[in-house]
Amino acid sequence: MKCVDDFRLKFGSKEYVPIMIGGMGVDISTSDLSLVAARLGGIGHISDAMVPTVSDRRYDTKYVRDKQKQYKYNVANMDKSDVQFDLALLAEATETHVRRTMERKRGEGLIFINCMEKLTMNAPRETLRVRLRSAMDAGIEGITLAAGLHLGSFALIEDHPRFRDVKLGIIVSSLRALQLFLKKSARTGRLPDYVVIEGPLAGGHLGFGMDWAQFDLATIVTEIAAWLKAEALDIPLIPAGGIFTGSDATTFLEHGAAAVQVATRFTVARECGLPEDVQQHYFAASEEDIEVNTISPTGYPMRMLKSSPAIGSGIRPNCEAFGYLLDANGNCAYINAYNRELALHPDAKKLKVLDKTCLCTHMRNFDCWTCGHYTYRLKDTTVREPDGSYRILSAEHVFKDYQYSKDNRIALPVAD
Ligand SMILES: Cc1cc2nc3c(=O)[nH]c(=O)nc-3n(C[C@H](O)[C@H](O)[C@H](O)COP(=O)(O)O)c2cc1C
Repeated sequence: MKCVDDFRLKFGSKEYVPIMIGGMGVDISTSDLSLVAARLGGIGHISDAMVPTVSDRRYDTKYVRDKQKQYKYNVANMDKSDVQFDLALLAEATETHVRRTMERKRGEGLIFINCMEKLTMNAPRETLRVRLRSAMDAGIEGITLAAGLHLGSFALIEDHPRFRDVKLGIIVSSLRALQLFLKKSARTGRLPDYVVIEGPLAGGHLGFGMDWAQFDLATIVTEIAAWLKAEALDIPLIPAGGIFTGSDATTFLEHGAAAVQVATRFTVARECGLPEDVQQHYFAASEEDIEVNTISPTGYPMRMLKSSPAIGSGIRPNCEAFGYLLDANGNCAYINAYNRELALHPDAKKLKVLDKTCLCTHMRNFDCWTCGHYTYRLKDTTVREPDGSYRILSAEHVFKDYQYSKDNRIALPVAD
């Protein structure tokens, strides 16, 4: 019987353990988590979601405070089009995050960055361009294009000196999305180095509608593999979403996948950015405690724990400090929902907004508990402490369990 370690992900002449830890926005997939994957010969992701905000917490910068000060005059204004990111500061923050991570890298694996197109930042094209290029400038080894079709993203970096050196991949949830991307990127004369195929059981935003349950990862992977073969295109495929055990991963690898991308199992690792009390909620969750809802202002469905403080919260939009989801015209679906409730209940001490959430603030504060479908199985991956809490795992333990386990077994942690 085979295990994940019997396979290798090949990029050119280099080989890697075929386990990729997926990007988890706003510092849930921390530098520390990505560095463990790289040390063990796999691939780790940091995320470029809200990097100025993350930089303030990690590197003692003051981007958020300064931006808030600069746009303080606009707080009561419904029109947020004034609230622009300073592109030089955005570049500085991204470079700091990437460089500081790369400096600490040990081992033969790789560090990639997850770059979300839906982070429109009041100037979608310009800010995406800066985020991509600054990550390349600072030595990132790969970029995974996420949360969007990225039809123009290769063109934003095609004149960068590292365009053919950095590994470039894209996350898709359908053959159609991949076909569109390849068609629009063809002009740059470069294929992606890998394609992550994310099915409906993943965490974070989903590339499906609310009919997500009718789709199945293995079927989409088979369809994409068959089309690539017919087109004589050789691009490594990396399935993601609901791959919970080493055996699940091995099955995909035996069917031709180049690697797997996994995330949920690592949400309860010590190196993950979620605070430990939140991790205990992930462990304790049952299947009924998890939902896919439409409260993300991005317009994509998102999976989360029903007990997330972000659900129903009616806080004032904080775009002067954050504003990562403002579209090209300075709009965000949460601002509209909030203003509607404010007009209906002008005297309410505390507003409730049920249909949308202020994702920036709640992701920043780890109050939006986004999670994968199989979060309810996390309790089976650890032991209980005498006080009833679940033991937090090391990322190395989880990684090695994926790498070596067979027969659908999950190794429990030993005391450390
Ligand atoms: C807590 C959490 C946050 C996530 N955030 C992001 C994100 O910011 N960008 C992204 O492309 N994918 C995100 N994902 C998706 C993962 O990168 C990954 O593809 C997926 O969750 C894999 O499925 P699994 O969690 O069942 O292993 C997130 C997943 C989780 C669990």
